[in-house]
Amino acid sequence: MLFDTHVHLNADQFEEDVEDVMKRAVEVGVREMVVVGFDEKTITRALELVKAYENLYAAVGWHPVDAVDMTESHLEWIEELSQHPKVVALGEMGLDYHWDKSPKEVQKEVFRKQIRLAKKVKMPIIIHNRDADQDIVDILKEEGADEVGGIMHCFGGSLEIAQICLNLNFHISFGGPVTFKNAKRPKEVAKDIPLDRLLIETDCPYLAPHPNRGKRNEPAYVKLVAEQIAELREMSYEQLAIATRNNAKKLFGIV
Ligand code: NI
Repeated sequence: MLFDTHVHLNADQFEEDVEDVMKRAVEVGVREMVVVGFDEKTITRALELVKAYENLYAAVGWHPVDAVDMTESHLEWIEELSQHPKVVALGEMGLDYHWDKSPKEVQKEVFRKQIRLAKKVKMPIIIHNRDADQDIVDILKEEGADEVGGIMHCFGGSLEIAQICLNLNFHISFGGPVTFKNAKRPKEVAKDIPLDRLLIETDCPYLAPHPNRGKRNEPAYVKLVAEQIAELREMSYEQLAIATRNNAKKLFGIV
């Protein structure tokens, strides 16, 4: 039984066949998934999906790439949605220095506002980090994000950064890249971090794991991520699956 902690079934890529995609996920043992919304359109669609499917939960937040578009009323909307029974986290939020649509200072401000909101509504947060290790860690510390904790999503950082995030009460989640042959660093971190802080995800439709690299990703492939990490940690697939699922349920408060 698996828990995929980060899916974008709300993306256009799944518009035609979400039903089949869900079926394939259930067939390989995926029990729960968190559909992550990050702007007006994807949040709206995530909420439609969690209403339609019992085994889906939602996270709502604002993506750093689009930080320039977030208004105060968006933030109020996210606050309202946090009270929805199937919304289990805020995010994804964070910093993305790869794309330059939103200036760094705007990204930081939008990130800080969402952390403060999470503390207000007492919800874990899902962090998107691209090329921004130090600033992410600094802001998490300055804002006291350890009070709510959450997930470093699709983690690609060093063991040193992972350790700082663990100290800040965060879980580390691995996706498709941990299965790539040349992915030395994620493999190292996935092998070493404490089992009770480990999570798995697909981030579908992006970043499909080996041997499906380059194709559209889907939740069923989270099994490939679990198999890879079990192998790295020299433990059984079943043990890894149970542990990561329990971690996710506990973090999201799902009984
Ligand atoms: Ni994502």
